[in-house]
Amino acid sequence: ARYVVGADLGGTNIRAAVLDREGKMLGHGKRPSLALEGATRTVAQIKQAVDEAISEAGVSRAEIGGLGIGVPGHIDPTGKKVLWAPNFYEDGFPYRNISLGDPIAEATALPVLMGNDANVAAMGEFRFGAGRGTRTMVMFTLGTGVGGGLILDGKLWTGFTGGAGELGHIIIAAGDRGGAAAYGSLESMAQIAAICERASRKLCQGRPSVLAERCAYDWHRITPKDIADAANEGDAVAREVLEETGYYIGLGVTSVVMLLNPEKIVIGGGVSGAGELLFEPIRRTAWANSSSTLIKDCPIIAAELGDDAGIYGGAGLVFDALESAV
Ligand code: BGC
Ligand code: NA
Repeated sequence: ARYVVGADLGGTNIRAAVLDREGKMLGHGKRPSLALEGATRTVAQIKQAVDEAISEAGVSRAEIGGLGIGVPGHIDPTGKKVLWAPNFYEDGFPYRNISLGDPIAEATALPVLMGNDANVAAMGEFRFGAGRGTRTMVMFTLGTGVGGGLILDGKLWTGFTGGAGELGHIIIAAGDRGGAAAYGSLESMAQIAAICERASRKLCQGRPSVLAERCAYDWHRITPKDIADAANEGDAVAREVLEETGYYIGLGVTSVVMLLNPEKIVIGGGVSGAGELLFEPIRRTAWANSSSTLIKDCPIIAAELGDDAGIYGGAGLVFDALESAV
């Protein structure tokens, strides 16, 4: 097959693109994912996004080797079943054991492989982005949740039941903040909600900051982008928020470096857009806490593919499967 379709199923939108082997995107499609309205409706949206991408690319379906999709949840090792996805609902409850792969394959007339969103993003960065040329690479994705993906010896490592690489759920502190994420987990300390809470706590203490006016004194309206912008303009409170967040991520990076001795750590997801003011404390903390022989050879770098990592990675899943089948 000359082409594949890569797709990223997010809580808000499903986005798909046709790619060739070099990673060139030939056509795009996008639809609301209707995550709360049941799997049947979501599958119909996926079909439409895929159809749109294929017709924009102007290629025939016979030339397409398959469809690879990143999904924010736990996907079984065969890539056909969603074992758990907290943000997608069927009959009013989050997905548990939903066989999504076969209905998507039927609707699109393409072979389908699914993977955890962050695993798939790691695959994308490995094949087409910041991890190109490495053999062992670890990705962290920073967003609403914190995700991770492990590329070990050139392969995506999915573990015994498909759940490997949940770096948001590693425990990094004796934490006092939980929720859906466990107390002290990296996600509990570095997800968007934690970062915004950290900022609002400082504002409630009366600390002067441009953030106060920007959110019109309504702390719930602070966004990670506000914090990143304010920090880059020199705001002390916003800088402290990034410093503290970077410290927790750096602890997570330390554990990963000591466990796996990777060649590169790639950090992506919307929150990573804060740039050096976040990466500097991450690196400093990892350097201070890892054994120097392991950390000195492991650059901690920004992802390159932005929002498209999942699409590239979905394509990568399929190319990998096609290559290992011959
Ligand atoms: C979920 C992961 C997901 C990550 C990023 C976490 O809350 O447990 O499965 O990869 O968020 O979306
Ligand atoms: Na993962």
